[in-house]
Amino acid sequence: MANPKLTYSKEKIAENIRINDSTYRIVLKGKFEGKPGQFYMLRGWGSEPLLSRPISINNLYEDSIEFMYQVVGEGTRILKNLRPGDELEITGPLGNGFDIDSIKGKVAVVAGGIGTAPMSFVVKSLKNSEVTAFYGFRDQVYCTDEIGRYVKELNISTEDGSVGHKGYVTDMFKPELFDAVLCCGPEVMMKKVVDMCREKNVVVYASMEKHMACGVGACLVCTCKTTGGNKRACKEGPVFRGEDLVL
Ligand SMILES: Cc1cc2nc3c(=O)[nH]c(=O)nc-3n(C[C@H](O)[C@H](O)[C@H](O)COP(=O)(O)OP(=O)(O)OC[C@H]3O[C@@H](n4cnc5c(N)ncnc54)[C@H](O)[C@@H]3O)c2cc1C
Ligand code: FES
Repeated sequence: MANPKLTYSKEKIAENIRINDSTYRIVLKGKFEGKPGQFYMLRGWGSEPLLSRPISINNLYEDSIEFMYQVVGEGTRILKNLRPGDELEITGPLGNGFDIDSIKGKVAVVAGGIGTAPMSFVVKSLKNSEVTAFYGFRDQVYCTDEIGRYVKELNISTEDGSVGHKGYVTDMFKPELFDAVLCCGPEVMMKKVVDMCREKNVVVYASMEKHMACGVGACLVCTCKTTGGNKRACKEGPVFRGEDLVL
């Protein structure tokens, strides 16, 4: 897959869909670029807050792009209040993304909470693999129906037991059954997944969620510790091989 071109543009929001109280999806119409696991810096405001916010590509179609986001602070609260027709500044696609062409065979996609957002695009792109998904949520489960159509099996866990397995997503997953494991979610979950895979010598890729400022490799705010030294999540990442990460 050729490297998509980095662009900055001002777009009109087509839709800003409420998924649940704290989760929304922005839809932009037009032709956009990106690889699974890449992200855009979004900005739906003037000078404050200063920084744009990194949000993964949730879905990419011929004529649109989607970003699913959780409302956690100032920036995402502003995004939530944007209406169709409002302007959104976007810069991207950024980061390395998953090397989909090199991932084959039986693949486990392990995601937690809003870490499921990039995995929609990832799962839909893994056309030459047999994918089993493990999605974990605290309580509210969202956006699993659609993904169920693209995977061999979808396993869901909730911490409160309201849907699926009661407990953590990692309780349900056995790395040794897979050729490769792709994960995204809270760092504590990814550490567990990476440790489990290392123990069984299974290739694992983790998409790291670090605080970001510039998003383009200039400020070093987003560094991750790796066996090869500090790496920038926005440039060399956000996807790293588990064996390289120091978690
Ligand atoms: C590569 C990448 C892809 C991402 N993709 C998505 C996505 O698809 N959907 C989505 O909802 N979120 C995603 N995030 C996280 C998202 O960028 C942050 O939640 C967002 O920037 C918070 O902005 P805010 O102004 O609403 O919150 P702030 O006011 O900046 O922060 C609110 C709270 O969230 C914490 N926080 C802020 N940024 C991060 C972060 N990067 N990681 C962990 N905690 C953070 C802060 O410490 C604080 O506690 C991604 C992050 C990265 C690095
Ligand atoms: S956010 Fe500035 S170097 Fe990554």
